[in-house]
Amino acid sequence: MEQLNVGILGWGTVGCGVIEILQSHREEIKKRLGRELVLKKVADIDLERPRPVSLPREILTRDAKAVIEDPDIDIVVELIGGIEPARSFIMKALERGKHVVTANKALLAHHGNELFDFARKHQRIIAYEASVAGGIPFIKSLREGLAANNIDTVFGILNGTANFILTRMRESGLTFQEALKEAQSRGYAEADPRLDIEGIDTAHKLAITAAIAFNMSIVFDSIYVEGISGIDPLDIQFGEEFGYVLKLLAIARLGEGGVELRVHPTFIPSGHVLAGVRGAYNAVHVHGDAVGHVMLYGLGAGMMPTGSAVVADLMDLARDIAQGIHCRLPALGSYELNPIPVKP
Ligand code: HSE
Repeated sequence: MEQLNVGILGWGTVGCGVIEILQSHREEIKKRLGRELVLKKVADIDLERPRPVSLPREILTRDAKAVIEDPDIDIVVELIGGIEPARSFIMKALERGKHVVTANKALLAHHGNELFDFARKHQRIIAYEASVAGGIPFIKSLREGLAANNIDTVFGILNGTANFILTRMRESGLTFQEALKEAQSRGYAEADPRLDIEGIDTAHKLAITAAIAFNMSIVFDSIYVEGISGIDPLDIQFGEEFGYVLKLLAIARLGEGGVELRVHPTFIPSGHVLAGVRGAYNAVHVHGDAVGHVMLYGLGAGMMPTGSAVVADLMDLARDIAQGIHCRLPALGSYELNPIPVKP
């Protein structure tokens, strides 16, 4: 039985989830794929800090090049986050003929068009299920399950940290700072939590979502973005008195003149299904002309849910490679639409 060798860049929260799943589900994965996914190397600048999963010393390295340049590694998993050096590492890995799995929504939102073009040029695949909505198979649903539809609306909760904070403020009377601290200690928040609370992480995910849903390029700069850092517990309470729950929503709508993309705190009726989405859960509503309304719900952040999405991509890639597929076209939408900048 042939094996596929995997190298990971970044041994953080999500990296631990991926390693844990690869270790604990090893036999199951092997049975499903007919080949083994072998963790060959893991690179991180800090190998000493305590982590919930342990690894044999000989597969650990501080040098990302040792992963990218290892001729035996078939798939590089980028879990460093941020723009650089993640972008350069991914490009180098593609150049060296490796497929890439990434959870890096910021990178894809800002440089996805260029990276997917680069991957196409090198006949390699970038898989990115974990970049949007954590453990929910949302990218696969949009790309595959809903592929036959003209989608006109996507809206939902795409940031676990912000939803966790709003939930804890509403239900337990925590201050914004207390709730944020708790979200950080649970491993939901980004290294820079401003990305979560200012709505930027949600906007990154919305840019990727819209590209697939509306078959357009990734446009981040046209998104109207407003976060939750200015929300006072009183805002939540007043809304409550009128029968509304405050949620940070990502909204994408296809209209006559183009696509409208926005992220902002939104009062939604307490009877609406999104009002009941609590804690780090995400939920997305999609409307397609053939399928009608579809809702997806699940944990949008955290070690194991996000790890689950990364390993699913690894398994998909393993199947593609086994069938001799080395490039999925198009990786993202290829048509241009004119996004309408939204005014608040
Ligand atoms: N910080 C992100 C969130 C992690 O809270 O949703 C998952 O993308």
